[in-house]
Amino acid sequence: MFERLREDINSVFHRDPAARNTFEVLTNYPGLHALLFHRFSHWLWNLGLKWLARTISTLARWLTGIEIHPGATIGRRFFIDHGMGVVIGETTVVGDDVTLYQGVTLGGTSWNKGKRHPTIGNGVVVGAGAKILGPFEVGEGAKIGSNSVVTKEVPAGATVVGIPGRAIVKKKPAEDEARRKEMEKRMGFDAYGVTEEMPDPVARSVRALLDHMHAVDDRIENMCQALRKVNSEYQNGELPPLHDEDFDCVREEGEDKPPKR
Ligand SMILES: CC(C)(COP(=O)(O)OP(=O)(O)OC[C@H]1O[C@@H](n2cnc3c(N)ncnc32)[C@H](O)[C@@H]1OP(=O)(O)O)[C@@H](O)C(=O)NCCC(=O)NCCS
Repeated sequence: MFERLREDINSVFHRDPAARNTFEVLTNYPGLHALLFHRFSHWLWNLGLKWLARTISTLARWLTGIEIHPGATIGRRFFIDHGMGVVIGETTVVGDDVTLYQGVTLGGTSWNKGKRHPTIGNGVVVGAGAKILGPFEVGEGAKIGSNSVVTKEVPAGATVVGIPGRAIVKKKPAEDEARRKEMEKRMGFDAYGVTEEMPDPVARSVRALLDHMHAVDDRIENMCQALRKVNSEYQNGELPPLHDEDFDCVREEGEDKPPKR
């Protein structure tokens, strides 16, 4: 039991840079208080002492502003930062190393008995004010943006924002962009001047092909180098050039042709 308590306290240090020492954490973190009350009320709930369990949970809500139903299953190293306004429903299952901020609801959308609340995977972070509603899974390591409303399953590792919650595609780092430009230069054409932000699916496919060709190109270059080491006579021939005209079919009508290279 003390091992669990130590873990719960340490998780505050790991996830809140403002935490200074154990005494401060034990006395000033309502998220930790709510969790300790919940561990007790959940134990009573499982013993069948339902009324007592609910009453302890209500007392915890008075004291912390956090409502965790005693039936909810909460994993290890759970951390609720700030906490006020958090509601966790009866059939919620929360994995290990999960972080919630104030105002989060892990709730249901129906009055049916049975599983009606979400299952939150290990390592998930749920931003302030987010609502996750329904009996679906939020995959491991997912991030839910503050104030999002999520009503559908979230894949592992995804970042979901907005109302309704949608997974965001992170912009590729600048070095990916530079690598693509380099490949385009070597091939002798530019991929219609598209940028990553453009939603055109054809342009995106072309960029994905460029990424793939870059990887293949690197691999062939390494193989050629290895062959030259084995046989110094070995020559690698020139690749056939690519021409702009070959790509004209996907240009918009009336769009200027690029200058001939
Ligand atoms: C969702 C979240 C985890 C994303 O963080 P991230 O992976 O670093 O992503 P970024 O900040 O690079 O944002 C990526 C895109 O999503 C948008 N976005 C981020 N959070 C958003 C939110 N809550 N709602 C709507 N859009 C959001 C950004 O504007 C950005 O859009 P752009 O690509 O058009 O510029 C983070 O923004 C978040 O909401 N964390 C919760 C923090 C919190 O609640 N803190 C409370 C402390 S008291």
